[in-house]
Amino acid sequence: MCGIVGYIGQRNAQEVLLRGLRRLEYRGYDSAGVAILNNKANPSGAAVLQIKKRAGKLKGLEALLSKRPLKGNLGISHVRWATHGIPNARNAHPHRDCQGRIALVHNGIIENYEQLKEALAREGHTFCSQTDTEVLAHLVGRFYRGRLEDALRAALKKVRGSYAIAVISRDEPGKLVGARMGSPLIAGSGENEGFLASDIPALLDYTKEVVLLDDREIIVLERGKLSVSNLDKDQPLKKKRVKINWDVSSAEKEGFPHFMLKEIYEQPKALRDTLGGRISEKKDAIILPELKPLEKALASMQRIVIISCGTARHAGLVGKYILEQYARVPVEVDISSEFRYRSPILNQKTLVLAITQSGETADTLAGIRLAKECGAKVLSICNVLGSSIPRESDAVIYTHAGPEIAVASTKAYTCQLAVLYLLTLYLAGLKNALPGAKIKQLIAGLEKIPQELEKVLQNKKVILECARRYYHSFGFLYLGRSLNFPTALEGALKIKEISYMHAEGYAAGEMKHGPIALINPHLPVVCIAPESRVHQKMLSNIEEIKARRGIVISVATAGDKLIAHHSNHVIYIPRVAGVLSPLLAAVPLQLLAYHIAAKRGCDIDQPKNLAKSVTVE
Ligand code: AGP
Repeated sequence: MCGIVGYIGQRNAQEVLLRGLRRLEYRGYDSAGVAILNNKANPSGAAVLQIKKRAGKLKGLEALLSKRPLKGNLGISHVRWATHGIPNARNAHPHRDCQGRIALVHNGIIENYEQLKEALAREGHTFCSQTDTEVLAHLVGRFYRGRLEDALRAALKKVRGSYAIAVISRDEPGKLVGARMGSPLIAGSGENEGFLASDIPALLDYTKEVVLLDDREIIVLERGKLSVSNLDKDQPLKKKRVKINWDVSSAEKEGFPHFMLKEIYEQPKALRDTLGGRISEKKDAIILPELKPLEKALASMQRIVIISCGTARHAGLVGKYILEQYARVPVEVDISSEFRYRSPILNQKTLVLAITQSGETADTLAGIRLAKECGAKVLSICNVLGSSIPRESDAVIYTHAGPEIAVASTKAYTCQLAVLYLLTLYLAGLKNALPGAKIKQLIAGLEKIPQELEKVLQNKKVILECARRYYHSFGFLYLGRSLNFPTALEGALKIKEISYMHAEGYAAGEMKHGPIALINPHLPVVCIAPESRVHQKMLSNIEEIKARRGIVISVATAGDKLIAHHSNHVIYIPRVAGVLSPLLAAVPLQLLAYHIAAKRGCDIDQPKNLAKSVTVE
């Protein structure tokens, strides 16, 4: 949830840290801080540990540092998403030990911090924040005997919880130390310099090769040297460097007012990249070599259980419809945080499919661990190379959406859908569940989706008109049936997240069992009704809404004139096979949410209270 950047080298640390934090601000944005060591500030020759922190967005800290820049080539920094203690400067990271010798930033939760704090207080330590992290800084200080990694190792032996940590000591101006347990931490190195960060975008300006730390590992970065060891043993570990294929431009707004809008418009490319190379030359089969490790398991699989959260769950719900319809495998979809606390029935014949953009969502990670304990095989669909969930899965199919910076997920969602279509057709072929001609026809339709999406993106007149008319309405109801019931849920979630208006997604057939009581002229109803086998049913629902003086905004297939008679507004999407319509129908709903939020003056990329990846329960 929080973002960490650390630097050691010859460059101006403040610049590197702030640039990295800007790229990570989506991870947390209620306060920010830096600690930089200045070797030359003190006439005695001892380094000076300078710390600056600010409540609020990163720009507050940037303003402070532009007036009084901190000199030095070694530092750590943090953007916070508060868990313990309100978001103020005092609770912002970095935190220090009693002597002001150690500075530390942390992402995660120290579960036993209260016991540790009491024990340290009995020894005379005094604390100035309400955070769990400050305890860690004191603990490292308590064990410090001149070698930072030893002190961190000793401190972490006392700690229960999850963490990614970056720490420096005033007494060791040539060393940056990090550790990971349950929260992501990556490192990069160049000539005479090293970087630590909680996510790839922070390092894109400097390196395309990273080392991914695993749980219970400690990293020591010195100028020109990077070494990793186990938390329990001080013995060097060999780590592979992983190549990153994201460009720096993918982490920039490139002229768009918000990342969210840029990411919405990137969807045709993201989908091309995700589908690319996964369709056979003859266009009659899906190629997913990633599934090789699951060959045997897929042959004997009897059931799929999809686990995911938020938007990724909505993708999973679409997955259920298509996997059951075409691959004829029974599918259950569960919210990860529910799955992990019930007693799911799983065995070797169950495939657990985890869907996650970030690959770090704590509940989904716990869910796959539970699945493995129960003997199930785990496949994940993920966007972030080398993140925790793919690393702990038996196989992974990556979406190639590129970095998604806006907190509200858009391109990652449609790419997750694309992978689910690929997987469905792959399994349909494997299980002979569909005739070859039908597979070919669906592949042809799928391949055309990116170009059809380009047309959707050019057609924003009605969307802008609806945003203008209804941005101050009482709320929104979203209705869809079958495969587009999840589209309704996703449309409503987008509105809630970024415009702070209430919106509810419902299966249209359920309307008469309750939500119909809400229908009135102040609650626009968005009806997702492209051509499909439930189209007529949607038309009946629309009539029921109109009969009660409701406002209807329909999303319909180009050429559907009938729907226009019954709706106040119609957003047309190109004609595609009904089964593929969720890939197109989601996009006008993203745009509608975006333009409503823009009209309401909301902070679109960083909506209040949210964070991009939810690495705590
Ligand atoms: C989407 O707009 C949300 N911000 C959120 O629901 C997100 O999809 C959810 O937290 C799951 O994240 P993940 O895909 O990284 O696991």
